[in-house]
Amino acid sequence: MTTMLSTQGLDKRFGGLHVTRAVTLQLHAGDRAALIGPNGAGKTTLVNLISGVLAPSTGSVWLAGEDVTRRLQSQRVRAGLARTFQITTLAPRLAVQRQIELALFEREGLTGRAWRSIDAYPSLAEEARGLLRAFGLGEHAGLATERLSYGEQRLVEMVLAMALRPRVLLLDEPMAGVPQEEGARLLAALDSLPQELAVLIIEHDMDLVFRFARRIIVMADGAVLADGLPEVIRNDPAVRTAYLGH
Ligand SMILES: Nc1ncnc2c1ncn2[C@@H]1O[C@H](COP(=O)(O)OP(=O)(O)O)[C@@H](O)[C@H]1O
Ligand SMILES: [Mg+2]
Repeated sequence: MTTMLSTQGLDKRFGGLHVTRAVTLQLHAGDRAALIGPNGAGKTTLVNLISGVLAPSTGSVWLAGEDVTRRLQSQRVRAGLARTFQITTLAPRLAVQRQIELALFEREGLTGRAWRSIDAYPSLAEEARGLLRAFGLGEHAGLATERLSYGEQRLVEMVLAMALRPRVLLLDEPMAGVPQEEGARLLAALDSLPQELAVLIIEHDMDLVFRFARRIIVMADGAVLADGLPEVIRNDPAVRTAYLGH
């Protein structure tokens, strides 16, 4: 198993509030892991520490064997880490296709070249179209993002993350707010992610967690309470207590 991501003793304090406690975990190529835990357990904070939105109080983050603890978010992206946010971060007026093209432009390190427009790179437009088709959004390419349904917008976010050609993908509640009838499309998109990608999904819907995950990591009060196969987690008394306590 190739370790793609690891954290070593990650700790985060906000003033007197200790929200991440000695979190040490690894994600391997091909992992399908779900990160679960009650609200306020520290799941989003952990993703923020891994992706570089936040700096840890102590501890370190490693990507493909390299210490990235002091690296910027953009440098971590270049090292193979992509994430989506719990709250949607798309530009509402921008055409979906354009949004993806911009991500590809950035990935290729072309953003400094203001003197050449994206349109000078037809291969990027073609790649953007291909990505949108792969996620079932081909016919929406020309629409402003705000015209898409909420579930489709969450799919666009996944496309944006995948446009970065990540080796590790962190998804923070991609299903939150998505109406049930759109859930199947998101699940299909999750199922179609490249096999070798390491995926960590934060999700509250236990049906989805047990359908998607081959590994479940449980957080409570900032610490990892359990980490293992879904069948084992399902029957873990400590996990049940942590959930019933809330
Ligand atoms: N920027 C911040 N400043 C202070 N406290 C924060 C900040 N971000 C998160 N917290 C606190 O950290 C704890 C964990 O939050 P969070 O990581 O969002 O949990 P989860 O995603 O599991 O619901 C909560 O008590 C939250 O209020
Ligand atoms: Mg959260």
